[in-house]
This record gives sequence, C-alpha cells and structure tokens, in this order.
Amino acid sequence: MAKNVGILAVDIYFPPTFVQQEALEAHDGASKGKYTIGLGQDCMAFCTEVEDVISMSLTAVTSLLDKYNIDPKQIGRLEVGSETVIDKSKSIKTFLMQIFEKFGNTDIEGVDSTNACYGGTAALFNCVNWVESSSWDGRYGLVVCTDSAVYAEGPARPTGGAAAIAILVGPDAPIAFESKFRGSHMSHAYDFYKPNLASEYPVVDGKLSQTCYLMALDSCYKHFCAKYEKFEGKQFSISDAEYFVFHSPYNKLVQKSFARLVFNDFVRNASSIDETAKEKLAPFSNLSGDESYQNRDLEKVSQQVAKPLYDAKVKPTTLIPKQVGNMYTASLYAAFASLLHSKHTELAGKRVTLFSYGSGLTATMFSLRLHEGQHPFSLSNIASVMNVAGKLKARHELPPEKFVDIMKLMEHRYGAKDFVTSKDCSLLASGTYYLTEVDSLYRRFYAQKAVGNTVENGLLANGH
Ligand code: ACO
Repeated sequence: MAKNVGILAVDIYFPPTFVQQEALEAHDGASKGKYTIGLGQDCMAFCTEVEDVISMSLTAVTSLLDKYNIDPKQIGRLEVGSETVIDKSKSIKTFLMQIFEKFGNTDIEGVDSTNACYGGTAALFNCVNWVESSSWDGRYGLVVCTDSAVYAEGPARPTGGAAAIAILVGPDAPIAFESKFRGSHMSHAYDFYKPNLASEYPVVDGKLSQTCYLMALDSCYKHFCAKYEKFEGKQFSISDAEYFVFHSPYNKLVQKSFARLVFNDFVRNASSIDETAKEKLAPFSNLSGDESYQNRDLEKVSQQVAKPLYDAKVKPTTLIPKQVGNMYTASLYAAFASLLHSKHTELAGKRVTLFSYGSGLTATMFSLRLHEGQHPFSLSNIASVMNVAGKLKARHELPPEKFVDIMKLMEHRYGAKDFVTSKDCSLLASGTYYLTEVDSLYRRFYAQKAVGNTVENGLLANGH
C-alpha cells in the first residue's frame, strides 16, 4: 500500500482583476469599515467576461503540469470540485481532458463533485482514497477546485471572489494526510443554495449560514478529537497542531471560528487553556449550544482570549482569502496555499488541521503532517512555483462601477448562447486561458494567451 499519501504539488490561479473592499464599501453606501474591519476583507477578485471556471482551471492545470515537469500521461485520476454550474450534465473535468487527450491519455478516472464550498474536499478525498486503494495504478491523482463566487447586489456581494487551484496527489508526499484523524458533520439546511437555474447567484440566509458553519465546526471538532483520542490514546487540543486552516467566506468568520475552538477546549477542560483564559470564559460555561451561538459577549471574550493564538496559528493562512475573497471550493486550499507561501521554511515536522465547510450542509475537519520533501515536490518549491506575492502584485485594480458593469454583463451572459467575447486578454498573464465564444449550440471555446507575446492596445499582437 502507498505510504504518506497526500499533496505533492500545488499551483493557484486567481483573476488579475479586483476591487478594493474600501472602495466597494463607499460605492455601496455601507458604513465605513463594514467590509474591511467588519468582514475583515481587503480586496475581491472577479472574472471579467473573458474568464470563467473552465478557463481558470485550464490555466491552473496547464501551469502545474508545466512548472513541476509532469508528463500528462502520468495522471491517472482527475477530480474537480466546483459549485459554479455551467452545464447540468457535462463535467468541468471533461473540458480539462483536452489537455490530456493531446498527449494520448484518455485513461483518467474521476468527474466533478458538487456541494457548495465542500466539492473540492470531496474531490481531494477521492484522489487520496484512490492512491491508498487496491485500484491505484501507480499514477498521480489531480484535484482541481475552481469557482467564481458572485452574489446579487446586497450585503452578500462583498463576500465574492474567484480562483482555481490544482493539487497533485500521490505517495511519499511532503504534505501527507493523517487519514485516521477526520471528523465530519453532514445535515440538511437551507443556509445557502442555488435553486434558480437561470441565475448564477445563490439564495442565501446569511445569518443562518454563519450559525450553520459554527455548529458544523463544533461537531467536526468533537468527532475529530474523539478519533484522535481513540488512535493516540490522549486528548487533542489546539496545542497539538501548529496551524489551523479554515474555509474562508470572509476573514471575520475565520476569527470567530478559531475562537470557537478555544471555547471548545475550555468546555472540554483541554490543556491549551490557561488560568487567565479560564477565568474570562467561566461566565459562559453553562450556556446551552444554541445560546452560545447567539451570545455576543461570548463571541467578543473568546476572540479576545484567542487573539495571541490566532496570530500564531491562523493569521499566516489568511493572505489569499483576504486579498481574493471567497473562492468557494478553492477557498480552504487557497488559505492553505497562503500558509505554504508565508511559512514554508518552518513547516517541516508540523501538523496542520483543516476545516472544510459547504452549505447545505457538509463539513469535515482533517489533518495533514508536513515534511520538506524532495525537489520538485518540496515545500520550498511549491511556495516558489505558486509565486503568490508576484501574482498579487501583478493584479489590476478596477473601480466598483466597472465591477458592477461587468456583473450586469455576466448576468446577461449566464446560460446564454451565440455570442463572442471581446477576446481582450490584455490584463491576463501570458499562458492564461480565456473564453472566446459560445456558439449557437452552447459550445464553449477557449484560447490561451501565448507565452512571451507582446500586447498592443489591449489586443495580442499575433492575434488569437
Ligand atoms: N465598522 C466595523 N465593523 C462593522 C461596521 C463598521 N462600520 N459595520 C458593520 N460592522 C460589522 C458588524 O458588527 C459585523 O461584525 P460581527 O459579526 O463581528 O458583529 C460585520 O461587520 C458584518 O456586519 P453585518 O451587519 O452582520 O453584515 P450583513 O448581515 O449585512 O452581511 C453576511 C454579512 C451575512 C456575512 C453577508 O455578507 C452574507 O450573507 N454573505 C454570504 C454568506 C456567507 O458567506 N456565509 C458564510 C458561510 S457559507 C459560505 O461559505 C458561502
């Protein structure tokens, strides 16, 4: 059986176009600080009319194969997580097959997984389970999480974002799964869902989604701790993992989530809680579960108590989610990518705990153990390939008015046929795929901005 199965390589793509949350706040007439301090967000990336979940995933996969020098014939399973519905039957995975067919590889299992922001985790578990199983044929698994998170005008709109992340899975990985330590919580809720097939926008009960998220977190943590105790014979507390990575719809919820874990450790009398923390949290010890989700004083005090630990164990995971926004399925893995980016020199030997949440609802807490690994599958090479700082720096800020215009155009284009896009790829980096046309049979066509092209007046000099 394959050993130390996990993540060998990662690459991330997010659109180069974004709005500043501060500017959006003013444009929307929200009170100053609501999006930046209240939600904890800095910027929000979005697809213009030449990008979508398929183009982003084509870019991420091509880039990963190229930068880690992976032969496309070496991929034996390809799984996609996405909740951005472009076609009710044809999977995004089949679009990505164009990359592999060229090299004569059509022997690739896997399709798309969908349940809100959780589909990427389902896809990742499928790949890891495949490599660990008796049907594994010795080749790599490849996971792609790709989403464009867009909301109708209103309070949810600033919690959008967009990205695709490609994750190579195999044995002897620098980022290995501790597969025994997993706790899940799955139930039926109408907190965020997409019943209107004519619209890309979700129906969202924002307050309910926050409570569902925190309840699922508590439940997953309980199951996770029980599994840990069963297999390790000792209690788990937040001191047993160096870092905690959360699905990040917006940063404030991540702050509240970590504080919730600290409160859980207090209630369980776990070792991570010192006397001062105990004194501060004591007045809340008798609250029922339901009361504790609504109690604003508990929220405030637990965030205060958790702050130093949050800064050490969570803050290094927040860069991309704060800069790009909610990326739905890619959000958790973009947070993990932020950790690799900011701490790759210090991660060897460390345990990282992740929490994945998808509305509706499905959630899992799971555990990874990191090693430096060997080039090209090393933590330092992953950080260098992802080039997070470079990609963030190369972005183009657009004013909120332009963002709103683009959203209107995209509303009109959603589910439409028989149109060509502007094909303007002037803001895209070379190598990026973009949408050129949707024909009268709804077939979608993409081109790739050539590497090293000169760009003139917003049009590629050699034309595409
Ligand atoms: N300065 C500083 N903080 C402010 C200001 C201000 N001027 N104004 C408001 N705030 C704070 C609020 O106090 C609140 O913080 P708190 O939660 O710590 O109290 C925060 O900003 C947000 O303000 P609310 O009034 O609660 O915001 P609103 O209800 O209008 O919208 C929401 C927030 C519900 C998150 C909305 O954006 C939404 O529905 N988003 C999509 C749903 C979502 O992401 N859910 C998360 C899990 S499901 C998923 O991943 C999709």
